[in-house]
Amino acid sequence: RKTAPLPEDIRAAKGGTPLVSLTAYTTPMARMMDGHCDFVLVGDSVGMVLHGLPSTLGVTLEMMIMHGQAVARGLDKSMLVIDMPFGSYEESPTQAFRSAARIMRETGAAAIKLEGGQHMAETIAFLVARGIPVMAHIGLTPQSINTLGGYKVQGRDGQAGALLADARAVTEAGAFSVVLEKVPAALADQITAEIAIPTIGIGASAGCDGQILVVDDMLGLFTTFKPKFVKRYAEFGTAGEEAIKTYATEVRARSFPAPEHTFADKAPGK
Ligand code: KIV
Ligand code: NA
Repeated sequence: RKTAPLPEDIRAAKGGTPLVSLTAYTTPMARMMDGHCDFVLVGDSVGMVLHGLPSTLGVTLEMMIMHGQAVARGLDKSMLVIDMPFGSYEESPTQAFRSAARIMRETGAAAIKLEGGQHMAETIAFLVARGIPVMAHIGLTPQSINTLGGYKVQGRDGQAGALLADARAVTEAGAFSVVLEKVPAALADQITAEIAIPTIGIGASAGCDGQILVVDDMLGLFTTFKPKFVKRYAEFGTAGEEAIKTYATEVRARSFPAPEHTFADKAPGK
């Protein structure tokens, strides 16, 4: 990509070459993926991945804005989307607008993402009507972990109809795309075929209109557990620990710093 797409370009990518996206939380990580991804998401997964929180529920609007600003500084050719954190939008459409406007104003993001299907449709329509492009997120919605009862595959056991209804509701409400998290592949394909906006899969299906992964997961940086749907494209966590062990050995042996890492006295005559 040469320039960042707009939410309407993402919408128009329905049925075409799959959309590529990853999460990012820092400027250097954003720079690494700029132009290789169609859009970059500052996910509220930041709480678990970078801050060591047990779930995404402890993430605040301030955290999302701070990481959003960092990622914005690293992006030029990929569109920026920022997650609405738990508690910042569920209460009412007006609360959602206030929070989303702050995110957009303070980070320059092109769009926000929020979790929820039918029950969030009114809020999505309210935001879109007031100039805020919305990416929806249905299926496994980690902010509802306490009522869902675990990080289980969604849309099984007779729940496929409800998930389809969620997908239709966010489409009708005006979302420009929708994340499908942890749903059976055949159901993801069915939803993708039935709705007019791009589906972005994570633990869904290669038939979705796009894919997203948590970048630390796919780089092997976040190694405490690996969900089935993550493919590790690198093992940076292991490589990093090896490097740290070598550094520790060299410092204890006084072989680091070597002469080339140290400064001599000022050369005479200079
Ligand atoms: O927070 C996040 O990283 C997400 C993606 C996994 C879709 O919501
Ligand atoms: Na999220």
